[in-house]
Amino acid sequence: MTVRFAKKLEALPHYEGGMDIDRARRTYEASDVIKLASNESPWGPHPAVLEAIREAAIGSNRYPDQHAARLRRRLADRFEVEPGGIAVANGSCEILLAAALALCEPGAEILYAWPSFSMYPQLAPLAGAREIRVPLDDAYRHDLDAMATEVTAATRLVVVCNPNNPTGTCLPPDAIAAFLDRVPDHVTVVVDEAYVEMQVLDHPDATVDLLAEHPNLVLLRTFSKVYGLAGLRCGYALGSARFRGAVDAVRQPFSVNLLAQAAGAEALLHGDDVDSRVERTIAERVAVEEELRGLGLRTADTEANFSWIDLGDRDEGEIVEGLGRRGVIVRAGTPLGGPGHVRVTYGTAAENRRFLDALAELL
Ligand SMILES: Cc1ncc(COP(=O)(O)O)c(C=O)c1O
Repeated sequence: MTVRFAKKLEALPHYEGGMDIDRARRTYEASDVIKLASNESPWGPHPAVLEAIREAAIGSNRYPDQHAARLRRRLADRFEVEPGGIAVANGSCEILLAAALALCEPGAEILYAWPSFSMYPQLAPLAGAREIRVPLDDAYRHDLDAMATEVTAATRLVVVCNPNNPTGTCLPPDAIAAFLDRVPDHVTVVVDEAYVEMQVLDHPDATVDLLAEHPNLVLLRTFSKVYGLAGLRCGYALGSARFRGAVDAVRQPFSVNLLAQAAGAEALLHGDDVDSRVERTIAERVAVEEELRGLGLRTADTEANFSWIDLGDRDEGEIVEGLGRRGVIVRAGTPLGGPGHVRVTYGTAAENRRFLDALAELL
């Protein structure tokens, strides 16, 4: 008799991140490899953040603050909300998993758009819930009308990814507000704003004003993207004290490590650095999108740090492989729910140049 694992494991999709540089070197036999596959920042942490990490590391013999009090206070000051409603986690992914576990029982429903962040399909099987996926519209945007009609008495969690990964499309805060008005109070709506700082439709904090009116709203944010801290794993949620309590109840203690807490708290003091990173990202976005159009390719209307490219009748596998052989790692569309597409994250100007030249050569 062999070891028996839980049945739910069979339904659980395997989360596969972008290929790392070492593996790409081996796979494609390329020496000089750039990774544009995981929506990371090409720019390392601010020097003061690195210093804070160094200093914090000295105390590594102790467990970190279980309540991440300093980081939560800084976040509360930054967003002018109560610290009690802020959950800090080991990446915002941890909050998604905890939300699913804390909100769902067998028979519950989780609703999200598709294609969207490739981790969402893990939530329902893990929580023993049923998932409902609503296709994006023809412009690759969330169809919030269609999503609202799918809400039932069994719905416990709705996830709206805005800007959406992998398409980069974004809805304005007015559309989110109108959607919230249509969703019953028993349903938690998580608006996953991992890339919100990079959108230019409205002020990135416009949705924060919706929290006061909607106790069932959770805004999910992260230090992994614009702050350049993906390797430390630190994300947070702005919501209600009840939501935060539920998240804390279902996950392991001390999940946010000492260095991540110190880095996040310091990073919040450097808003001008964030502004500069956003400006540089937008400059790359404009340049890359224009060149892609020049190559005759259709792209989604992106508000993030990546482009979603429609390859038409070109072979997705050949393009991904051809770019890989030229030392450029991008993300194939099929595993992200969009066959016939690729997603490319913006790197530095020089990296983007390499990507565009390699793509032009292949086409
Ligand atoms: C939409 C979205 N949400 C959440 C995350 C995960 O962020 P974190 O690193 O904070 O877990 C990602 C990462 O790619 C993402 O694209």
